[in-house]
Amino acid sequence: MASLLRTAAKSAATFAGIAALAATPAYAAGAEGAAPPWAMLAYLISGVFFILALRGLSSPATSRAGNRYGMVGMVLAVATTLITHDIANIVEIAIAVAIGGSIGFVIARRIAMTAMPELVAGFHSLVGLAAVVVGFGAWLDPVSFGIVDEAGQILAVSRIELGLGIAIGAITFSGSVIAFLKLSGRMSGSPILLPARHIINLGTLAAILGLIGYYTVSPQGGPGEGQLVLLIALLAFAIGFLLIIPIGGADMPVVVSMLNSYSGWAAAAMGFTLGNTAMIITGALVGSSGAILSYIMCRAMNRSFISVIAGGFGGDSGGAAGGAPREQRPYKQGSAEDAAYMLEQAEKVIIIPGYGMAVAQAQHALREMGDKLKEKGVEVKYAIHPVAGRMPGHMNVLLAEASVPYDEVFELEDINSDFAQCDVAFIIGANDVVNPAAKTDKSSPIYGMPVFDVDKAKQVFFIKRSMGGVGYAGVDNDVFYMNQTVMLLADAKKMVEEIVKSLD
Ligand code: TAP
Repeated sequence: MASLLRTAAKSAATFAGIAALAATPAYAAGAEGAAPPWAMLAYLISGVFFILALRGLSSPATSRAGNRYGMVGMVLAVATTLITHDIANIVEIAIAVAIGGSIGFVIARRIAMTAMPELVAGFHSLVGLAAVVVGFGAWLDPVSFGIVDEAGQILAVSRIELGLGIAIGAITFSGSVIAFLKLSGRMSGSPILLPARHIINLGTLAAILGLIGYYTVSPQGGPGEGQLVLLIALLAFAIGFLLIIPIGGADMPVVVSMLNSYSGWAAAAMGFTLGNTAMIITGALVGSSGAILSYIMCRAMNRSFISVIAGGFGGDSGGAAGGAPREQRPYKQGSAEDAAYMLEQAEKVIIIPGYGMAVAQAQHALREMGDKLKEKGVEVKYAIHPVAGRMPGHMNVLLAEASVPYDEVFELEDINSDFAQCDVAFIIGANDVVNPAAKTDKSSPIYGMPVFDVDKAKQVFFIKRSMGGVGYAGVDNDVFYMNQTVMLLADAKKMVEEIVKSLD
């Protein structure tokens, strides 16, 4: 649950960062004088609202209030920017907001829940691009941005901020575009491994840092200054591309969250250049929450952050990564009636939803099933794995949408010991997150990932469409073949609806 809320918090903070970036040109237009003290106070208060928003989003019960805090903070920050600075052309800004807002509205209405990761990646690319554009704007017109010394030279500290802002923005842009293409299936999710890629990457990063250093000390207006700034941007675009292509589909969610973090730092760097407190605060919030989320996800998948960045995972097994032939083993198959009978006889039932529940959109039928069981005196709990589904908090969002009570939903570490006392473990569209190979098979791509101990339950029902389908990691699952397991082979929504009918 915490992962969902952190993600939501991150999204709110991203929104704050984007809006702060959007407000930047307006600020810049009148940045020659320092902002009045009341404006600094207003920015600070808006920062406090953003922090309250993150705090509120750390629990489902307070998440709506958290969202409201975020909105209030954003209105305050944007209004302060608009009031305290001359708006060169408010009509242009209104037109831009109307166009961008309408496109965003239509996309948000149409997007399927399962396509959220690529949408987030796509939007991050725009944050990165905005940072690059603002950086170039400040470089082209430093006087308007108030970043020149008495001799009319761009201040050394502003050059560092500009260089870093453009570089991080460009990395975020090209990296996010590749992540979008991979996640949306427009490009193979398999890692693309260039020979000597670590040397190329380290060399390119060193070159970018060296060029930023050189730009900082070189005289303004000197020969080749324009080419220098352009070269920094081009190398950063290239490194964003090079860093993401070797990363396999299984690690993409970590990458998206990492790119989100970069976009925050890019915005914060620009905030320093522009002297905009709101941008610095929101950028830092986005940067740090994205970094924390990346760390949590790596831990949940038992992957080290360095191994994710180095890339290469997810290319040599099935699922996201291709399929391996599997041996035929005996298993038991049951019907909706069998499941309904056993479920109503049970005292304790733990439901484990996974990606298949999202694909089937079975959450409403599942909540109905839970309600029916509770009416019959059965204790029903939902167990959520931190990486179930395809994005952090995927299952929590769907269960919340179906009005499953928050106090019935438990995280892995809080519920795993309950399986030993439960009568039925009801697995619906989950696979990797219940695969015991993660505990026992060192050669498995999911080895080391914490998984639910469903093998300890007295009875297991396992909904999936066929025995041929695999989970994301593409590995066979011993749970299918356990004595106490009954496979319910059907679309998750249809199967649960039939169970609900049988429970009547
Ligand atoms: P998976 O291991 O991907 O398993 C999904 C299961 O759902 C499959 O067994 C599939 O089998 C079944 N399924 C698909 N559509 C269905 C439908 N309409 N009705 C019934 N069943 C259906 O899911 P999981 O257990 O949630 O694990 C998540 C995996 O994704 C982990 O490996 C995780 O590392 C990875 N991952 C997670 C994230 C985040 S952040 N959550 C992001 C990317 C990757 P059939 O095809 O036979 O139906």
